[in-house]
Amino acid sequence: MDSKPLVLAIETSCDETAVAVMRGRDSLLSSEISSQILLHRKYGGVVPEVASRNHLRVLRPIIETALEKANVTVEELDVIAATSGPGLASSLLVGLSAAKGMAAALGKPFIGVNHMEGHLLSPFLLSAEGVLPCLSLIVSGGHTMLIDLAGIGDYRLLGKSLDDAAGEAFDKVGKLLGLPYPGGPEVDKRARHGDCQRYDFPRSMLRSGDFNFSFSGLKTSVRYRIAKLEGDYLDDVCASFQEAVVDVLVAKTLRAAQECGRTVIGVSGGVSCNSRLREAFTVACDRDGIKLVMADAWVSTDNAAMIAGVAVEKALRGEFSDLSLDINPNLALATS
Ligand code: KG4
Ligand code: ZN
Repeated sequence: MDSKPLVLAIETSCDETAVAVMRGRDSLLSSEISSQILLHRKYGGVVPEVASRNHLRVLRPIIETALEKANVTVEELDVIAATSGPGLASSLLVGLSAAKGMAAALGKPFIGVNHMEGHLLSPFLLSAEGVLPCLSLIVSGGHTMLIDLAGIGDYRLLGKSLDDAAGEAFDKVGKLLGLPYPGGPEVDKRARHGDCQRYDFPRSMLRSGDFNFSFSGLKTSVRYRIAKLEGDYLDDVCASFQEAVVDVLVAKTLRAAQECGRTVIGVSGGVSCNSRLREAFTVACDRDGIKLVMADAWVSTDNAAMIAGVAVEKALRGEFSDLSLDINPNLALATS
């Protein structure tokens, strides 16, 4: 394989239809995303059938736009890649089938990518330093995971959420408060005007001695608290809830870095866009002399550039997938 393989990657694991074209590790030629947020907002969450039908409708034009913007033809591509899991089965099927179909028709190699590996490596996408050994926190809508990342492909799971993912907790609390879907960015915006000490919400598993998380008790606590409230409390509830999530994420990530002897922390996934989380990580890492690498906002939420980045690494190592590869909605990233 060329030292700069030309990869087209498709991401359809949930409600974003995304396609990216990348040449080697350092050149992202295009990254297109069609968000379905407005389609799902009226239902208060992602409806799998609506998502997959929409992927089917928009995927082909998005592939064409991504190729046009990258100024390459399908014949020039070296590899076709797509997310194979984890995610919604009916959504994954659309992107993976399209990629396999393109690879078969063009006679090009195909690579199936784990969506969580995309998030995991996203803080280092297009970075001159490449992927560094680090302690990594992934905080997305579906997952909260602490991973010791020794190098590409060498991942050890230290802990994860035992119930709701951090993003899921943000979205559920947003819904409880009557905010539009997805709740995460809305809670973040409201919290900027709120008092984060007004309500004392639980910091679940902060001192559990392991690296697991639990956010469903916090969500229930918010539900009981708001049932008793009257008047203008929204911004303060958002700020106090957010502070409880941030406190636990930052403290446990720093403790894990210390225990694993890592001096770099990587943070990725949609929730890493959260302004308070970014601020708290910056302060804590400065204090402890740790280098912080947070994924930029454009690569934190679901996108195909991060999938292309993983596919480039796999192509360079000759790790291609068989066309018989199927979707796996519960695909694991790493074991403990
Ligand atoms: O990584 P992502 O795009 O999709 C998954 O793979 O799940 O993450 C989406 C999650 C949603 O739960 C969304 O509410 C949350 O990221 N999110 C935020 C913020 N921006 C996105 N949560 C808190 N604060 C934000 N600013
Ligand atoms: Zn994701």
